[in-house]
Amino acid sequence: MKSQPFDLRLPVFAAPMFLISGPELVLAACKAGIIGAFPTPNARPIAQLDDWMKQITEGLAAARDAQPAATIGPWCANLVTHSSNTRLAEDLALVAKYRPPVVVTALGSPKPAIEVVHGYGGLVFADVTSIGLAKKAVAAGADGLACVSAGAGGHTGSLSPFAFVSAVRDFFDGHLIVGGGISDGWGVAGAIASGADYVYMGTRFIPVAESMAAPAYKQMVVDGTVDDLIVSAGITGTPASWLKPSLRALGIDPDNMPPPPTRHYDSSQPVSARKWVDVWAAGQGLGSIRSIEPVAAVVDRLVEEYGTARARLTGLPYAQPTVRARLAA
Ligand SMILES: Cc1cc2nc3c(=O)[nH]c(=O)nc-3n(C[C@H](O)[C@H](O)[C@H](O)COP(=O)(O)O)c2cc1C
Repeated sequence: MKSQPFDLRLPVFAAPMFLISGPELVLAACKAGIIGAFPTPNARPIAQLDDWMKQITEGLAAARDAQPAATIGPWCANLVTHSSNTRLAEDLALVAKYRPPVVVTALGSPKPAIEVVHGYGGLVFADVTSIGLAKKAVAAGADGLACVSAGAGGHTGSLSPFAFVSAVRDFFDGHLIVGGGISDGWGVAGAIASGADYVYMGTRFIPVAESMAAPAYKQMVVDGTVDDLIVSAGITGTPASWLKPSLRALGIDPDNMPPPPTRHYDSSQPVSARKWVDVWAAGQGLGSIRSIEPVAAVVDRLVEEYGTARARLTGLPYAQPTVRARLAA
């Protein structure tokens, strides 16, 4: 395992989410002491990406000046390296300009990002959903892997996170993020104990004050349970975990999903060009989310739960995380 290169309160990424994560969420996550990430296709047209990256870098510099002793996490840009994304070269030029300490590539090889990001000393992680893709990403020179497992929101994996981490650790000792259905500090401790270095937490940050999700979407995540989810490739062409009530609201029957369309991820097109932008995604960690709160409050609770879980692992006295205790919290 790599030693932790970042000063963090908790080894967690506020994972990049399409149409959800923007500068406000990234800045709140970094200021709360975790890693704040956003997918570059959320900023369209390209001039908006320049604005967002400027806002993030200036916001973090101001926060560090204001509170030199505070733990402020790094920011992370998530690039779509799928062949259908004709804007990749422009995104990479802005990555070179603003230098996010971490870049995560998704839906394609990490290769196109490596020269640029290594050029300024950043790290490239590749989002992968299988052992085969993990091996390819390592061979392409990725510094780290984001192992997206079963239970994840958005484009999901199908492997158990424990089996995935264990198999990857057989051939890779670099940075390893694991994600999928982890929404509390006990889950973070379990992931770290299993061999991961970080957790990729997306769904937990949909219903936060700083996310760009519509109020009704945030409430649907708060009200939802795992029974409200369906995994289907019928919306984007790649298997993803969707909220059934949002499908029904658009007249799509979750028991009769459309056939997978051709995959198309071109961020040079306006977001409105996407066929389905109002289908809402979430992962299996939604069950433990009870209210819409600011990121700082969520991270404070995650840190406390992580501490309890670590005490549990080391045999120290701890408060049993029963359902009742969680509800009282
Ligand atoms: C609404 C939503 C949108 C997402 N959009 C993206 C994206 O644009 N790029 C990406 O690499 N991953 C995306 N993801 C996946 C997350 O980055 C992360 O892998 C996942 O949320 C982890 O699982 P969890 O939701 O159970 O925490 C998305 C996830 C959700 C829930």
